[in-house]
Amino acid sequence: MRIVVTGAAGHLGRLVVQGLLERVPADGIIAVVRSEEKGVGLEALGVRIAVADYNVPETFEGLFAAGDKVLLISSSEMGRDRVAQHKVVVDAARTSGVALLAYTSAAGTHETPLAEAHRGTEKVLVESGLPYVLLRNNWYSEIFVDGLDRVVEHGVLVRAAGEGRIASATRADYAAGAVAVLTGTGHENRAYELSGDRAWSFAEFAAELGGQTGREIVYTPVEVEAYVDLLTGAGMPALYAEILAGAEASFAKGELAGANGDLARLIGRPTTPIADTIAAALRRDEAGGRRGMAGRAQDRRWDNRRAAHLGCAHGGRTRGRAGGVLHRLHRRQAGGSRLSRRPRRAVAAQQPAEARR
Ligand SMILES: NC(=O)c1ccc[n+]([C@@H]2O[C@H](COP(=O)([O-])OP(=O)(O)OC[C@H]3O[C@@H](n4cnc5c(N)ncnc54)[C@H](OP(=O)(O)O)[C@@H]3O)[C@@H](O)[C@H]2O)c1
Repeated sequence: MRIVVTGAAGHLGRLVVQGLLERVPADGIIAVVRSEEKGVGLEALGVRIAVADYNVPETFEGLFAAGDKVLLISSSEMGRDRVAQHKVVVDAARTSGVALLAYTSAAGTHETPLAEAHRGTEKVLVESGLPYVLLRNNWYSEIFVDGLDRVVEHGVLVRAAGEGRIASATRADYAAGAVAVLTGTGHENRAYELSGDRAWSFAEFAAELGGQTGREIVYTPVEVEAYVDLLTGAGMPALYAEILAGAEASFAKGELAGANGDLARLIGRPTTPIADTIAAALRRDEAGGRRGMAGRAQDRRWDNRRAAHLGCAHGGRTRGRAGGVLHRLHRRQAGGSRLSRRPRRAVAAQQPAEARR
């Protein structure tokens, strides 16, 4: 039995491959990448490499074999018809008679345009008749620590999520969940709502950040429309601003707050607290600062790639602009804005003990 991972050169894919290597022989793992070049690092780990592109159906012909277990990592190409892209993989898997196809989906309660592609793909997969597993991942914690240095610099955290709570977990947690499903038994035709063990709010996030940095960080919740205005006013194209604001509205409604313990049960350990993700990001930023200009430039490239996940990936110029937009947005809020409502002091000393867990 072989295990095939698509999107293997991405952040989540690499973690899945690393996790699989601890459980199965390297030559039983096939990493699907978009180009030979992308596969170089993975090949060095001893796994087999296959080159295929969701946009080119022929590249998936003959890639799978009967009895394979496949992890389809959802496409990161926001401007594309992602359901059609994923259908290419599902069709190829059905033709080959794979034993299982696991798909990285979105939390079941999540109702934004971002989630529509996941619902569409789930339908295609379930109707395909293949044995499937839906890995409905909540948000990645890492998404919330992008640009943390700018938040610390200005002492303001601007979001449009109100009091909403988010049960995020790290990519490493979700990757471990995928590994458990791919190497375990009895997961066929199940949908897992995967999340962190405990949901947090942005007020708690700001308090935690304040506590760890010894700085005062003010969480400034704004209305969704105001958030769009702020983003577009700072130079972000309306399409992307709407996507980001849609996610904030979803947080505010509590659509990402559910924490049922599925992920911790699958991986046999607690998920990573948001405080740990914040600490890791601060260490990374500090190391970037120590490395000077070159280090910061490297981190910026890293950040720009991450901006893709905020719906900002549509060519290098837009990605590059995303960091600047957030910087201007925080600066603007730090200077005070009539759009803000009820800014609250989130000082370390005032934070509830629970927020620091
Ligand atoms: N739950 C969340 O908070 C959250 C946040 C962000 C994203 N996501 C979803 O989770 C997925 C994995 O996250 P990640 O952090 O690992 O993203 P990532 O680092 O951008 O990885 C995405 C992978 O998909 C590959 N890919 C994109 N388009 C493709 C295509 N047309 N054909 C074949 N492969 C293609 C990329 O290939 P290249 O390496 O060649 O670019 C990359 O390896 C994302 O793609 C996105 O759908 C979820």
